[in-house]
Amino acid sequence: MNRIKVMSVFGTRPEAIKMCPLVKALAGYPEIEPVVCVTGQHREMLDQVLAAFALRPDFDLDIMEKSQTLSSVTSKVLLGLREVFQKDRPDIVLVHGDTTTSFAAALAAFYDKIPVGHVEAGLRSFDKMSPYPEEMNRLLTGRLADIHFAPTPANAANLEREGVRSHVYVTGNTVIDAIHTTVRDDYVFDCDALNHIDYTGRRVVLMTAHRRENYGAPMEQIMQAVAQLARTRPDLLFVYPVHLSPYVQQTAHGYLDGIDNILLTEPLGVFDMHNLMGRVFMVMTDSGGLQEEAPALGKPVLVLRRETERPEAVQAGTVEIVGTAAGDILAHAGRLLDDEAHYLRMKRAVNPYGDGQASRRITENLLFYFGRRAEPADPFRVR
Ligand code: UD1
Ligand code: UDP
Repeated sequence: MNRIKVMSVFGTRPEAIKMCPLVKALAGYPEIEPVVCVTGQHREMLDQVLAAFALRPDFDLDIMEKSQTLSSVTSKVLLGLREVFQKDRPDIVLVHGDTTTSFAAALAAFYDKIPVGHVEAGLRSFDKMSPYPEEMNRLLTGRLADIHFAPTPANAANLEREGVRSHVYVTGNTVIDAIHTTVRDDYVFDCDALNHIDYTGRRVVLMTAHRRENYGAPMEQIMQAVAQLARTRPDLLFVYPVHLSPYVQQTAHGYLDGIDNILLTEPLGVFDMHNLMGRVFMVMTDSGGLQEEAPALGKPVLVLRRETERPEAVQAGTVEIVGTAAGDILAHAGRLLDDEAHYLRMKRAVNPYGDGQASRRITENLLFYFGRRAEPADPFRVR
């Protein structure tokens, strides 16, 4: 019997972290021929993940430019994938989430009349401009997709409200599959500075910031608040792996260089990052992925954004939406640092995003879609 050729297309760090477990799972099914095409929307940060999971792509569009524009990424992915599809036409293309790679790859597949599967489907902030351009990327990807893998029941409900009712499967998020393979008690960090931190004797705050809609005044407010927190509370240690975006590099180093209790690092490998998250006191971030990972590891998260497309952990009480005004950041961080009862309430480990079985469910649902299974996979249920 012919194998189903499943081409996974991704290009940025978070997509790679969330697609690698799925690509590995696909390879375990004899009915499937997995193929991987990376766009290279990210270069160093993508290669770090590929190396960590020992994944060698079949195609690499290698599109990244310094301070690239959304139009450049979109057009290069469209043109590059057209050539790939002519060489090696898949039966289905899988894209992930909300990046410009995801949207452009879904559009390229649609133009070539290749079915599209959307992994991490149905997340919505309901604000077209925030996160920008991700909210529109995921809406458009959802319109183009033929099969939708929604991490949570709430994500599936969002799709249903938009009239998307067939081939929607609740699977959990593959990032929880990844965490099951990365976090270990006896882990030794590649970034040696992280091996010398006294995680039990000192409160360590992990922070990241990179969102495009935060460029400018919001990011400056974030940096000012962190600088003030660090200066007024020398007992704390901030660890901040800085995204390679030239704007973020310049802003972070401009505000935070030279403050003794802030450790600015290069982007960390994913194993380092997950194990660091497992050991810190709390997380401050505008990242999407960290909002899913930290609750699973029992770490409170302050979200440095005005909204979120991931309300589940907010409802569970482990994530707070803080915004980007320096005063709000200082107030929320102060409460978490000084009010132990509040901290303990937020610290509970919760798993609204997955149970480590997402990749298996996605694969089984793909087989069902292609008529190779009689039933879809059991849906992910939040316990
Ligand atoms: C992209 C995604 C965003 C995701 C983020 C994860 C879009 C529009 N945005 O945003 O949804 O949250 O990735 O990190 O798809 N750079 C390097 N090396 C790298 C990666 C980036 O030098 O390995 C620099 C380049 O100068 C590049 C810039 O960062 O032009 C911005 O990268 P880009 O992918 O356009 O945007 P991100 O902010 O990373
Ligand atoms: N991450 C990493 N190294 C870092 C920062 C983040 O491995 O230095 C991981 C993080 O654990 C998560 C993912 O990258 O799995 C999140 O990526 P990012 O914040 O860049 O994008 P977003 O999730 O906001 O789209």
